[in-house]
Amino acid sequence: MKAAVLREQRKPLVIEDVKISKPGPHEVLIRTVAAGVCHSDLHFQDGSYPAQVPSVLGHESAGIVEMVGSEVRTVKAGDHVITCLSAFCGHCEDCLTGHMSLCSTGETRRGKGEEPRLTAGDAGVMNQYLNLSSFAEQMLIHEHACTSIRKDMPLDRAALIGCGVTTGVGAAIHGSNVRPGETVAVIGCGGVGLAAINGAAIAGAGRIIAIDVTDAKANLVKVFGATDFINAKDGDPVKQVMEMTKVGVHHSFDCIGLKIASEQAFRMLRRGGTANVVGMVPVGQNIELMGAAFLGEKRIQGSAMGSNRFPVDMPRFVDMYMNGKLKLDEMISRRIKLEQVNEAFEEMKTGAIARSVIMFDQ
Ligand SMILES: NC(=O)c1ccc[n+]([C@@H]2O[C@H](COP(=O)([O-])OP(=O)(O)OC[C@H]3O[C@@H](n4cnc5c(N)ncnc54)[C@H](O)[C@@H]3O)[C@@H](O)[C@H]2O)c1
Ligand SMILES: [Zn+2]
Ligand SMILES: [Zn+2]
Repeated sequence: MKAAVLREQRKPLVIEDVKISKPGPHEVLIRTVAAGVCHSDLHFQDGSYPAQVPSVLGHESAGIVEMVGSEVRTVKAGDHVITCLSAFCGHCEDCLTGHMSLCSTGETRRGKGEEPRLTAGDAGVMNQYLNLSSFAEQMLIHEHACTSIRKDMPLDRAALIGCGVTTGVGAAIHGSNVRPGETVAVIGCGGVGLAAINGAAIAGAGRIIAIDVTDAKANLVKVFGATDFINAKDGDPVKQVMEMTKVGVHHSFDCIGLKIASEQAFRMLRRGGTANVVGMVPVGQNIELMGAAFLGEKRIQGSAMGSNRFPVDMPRFVDMYMNGKLKLDEMISRRIKLEQVNEAFEEMKTGAIARSVIMFDQ
């Protein structure tokens, strides 16, 4: 099958022929229909996070089940599914206390002695990335890394739920527990930030301030529920938020992954407010906070994959899209072919687009 492979960090992905194994007892073989290009893929390509090479990137996808292993009960051939990198074992402390997105037992991967799920065309090593490797015509994954959805849901938009939407909406409704009438600021309005705005709007936030560095996002953020837009290039966004709100916001979200954005998220809080670091701050970078601010009971917390319980969340998000609450049509800036994935990375660096979605030939 055709796949986009990271052979070396900071080099373009290479389209290669990759071999895929057959499903083991708890595995599912999926024909990939659509895969979104998320900034996290770029972080592993550009070296801000360490990556195993070679590997097939991609982790935001939807497709159709082709074959399941003998023990699989959750999905069946023909099902439409959304994948999730938060593969969970189901029996560790994190899973059993309802924090399955934190599961780290790794039991959902194949063991060292087993035949790998993916093999390079020349029979060399090919790593599976984030339990999925979606930039490929097929995926072979654990059954606890996908969930089936209703068949009237368009799969290109379903793919977005696979990472960006679950991350952004989940950060607002699960991680920060936004309540009706509260104030929210979202720094960085790519796929994840737009979803955080949308999640806050669904939760009933009163004022939602969207912050980006390109005016190209000024109108788009309103579609997702933002009430205000700030261009961070027009001056310190913390000062602008303080001028608008007088006291600061209840919830802020760094949806970029920059030291400065995480610090700004904390500094724009009102007393008792919560800052959420959703963006992936490069490995090795520290963030600095004014210690005295903690006397105002200000909080800062990490956020991974929207603290999801994805087999519950994702079908709900699908329903929210189908009844008009969740905005996904406007999140797709471009539909592209697998061969154009490097172009999507270049466009992402400009900040002008929301999401590129790779469509696989049916
Ligand atoms: N925590 C998680 O579970 C999780 C999951 C998915 C993605 N992420 C991370 O979230 C971040 C966002 O992902 P994305 O796919 O939406 O990225 P993206 O590149 O599509 O969007 C980033 C946005 O930030 C804007 N921006 C850049 N610098 C800015 C600044 N100084 N001030 C304000 N805005 C600025 C850009 O213009 C762009 O609109 C990435 O770091 C990604 O790796 C985290
Ligand atoms: Zn992602
Ligand atoms: Zn677990």
